[in-house]
Amino acid sequence: MLRKQNHERDTGDASAQPHFHQSAPEIQPYGTVSHLIPLGLEEPVRLEMTEQLNGLLADTMTLRDLYKKSHWQVAGATFYQLHLLFDKHYNEQVELVDAIAERVQLLGGVSIAMAADVAETTRIARPPRGREEVPVQLSRLLDAHQVIILETRKLARRAMEMGDDGSNDFLVSEVLRTNELQVWFLSEHLVKVPLVEARKPLSAAGAA
Ligand SMILES: [Fe+2]
Repeated sequence: MLRKQNHERDTGDASAQPHFHQSAPEIQPYGTVSHLIPLGLEEPVRLEMTEQLNGLLADTMTLRDLYKKSHWQVAGATFYQLHLLFDKHYNEQVELVDAIAERVQLLGGVSIAMAADVAETTRIARPPRGREEVPVQLSRLLDAHQVIILETRKLARRAMEMGDDGSNDFLVSEVLRTNELQVWFLSEHLVKVPLVEARKPLSAAGAA
């Protein structure tokens, strides 16, 4: 049966029969860029940018997944608020993942995609599988943001040096600003302030 399907394909005969279980060599290996892309950017520039963007992509996919883990596993008095906030940030990271991956493809490269490859590539520390306290969840997320923010600033400067203005603008306007804003929202949860009763003024406390 398989032989017959292949024969039909080889001879170009039209058929309503689907062709299953096909395989063929890759059309472009990972780590390469297409030679002919009419962007006015030389191949070495696109090669370096796609390699660096793939590193950023792996880290962003890891942060995205860390947000979903936090969304599911959060516990405590602030459960509902953080459950929603973590999912909002997750969705914003999903948008960034797609935009970074498509920037790699646009530059003629091959974007990293699968979890096993991402795990081998990311610079973000692997969290345990189990649940952790809220301050630990927040700290992990902030550490991951820090990795991404530092590499994004560095990469944005490099893109400008190499004349890749599109990558520079994307990295600053979308990746950097989104991550900076999310850092603010997380950080404010780690400020220790009274929930119910304000602290006594110092003079009153001294007189008591
Ligand atoms: Fe959910």
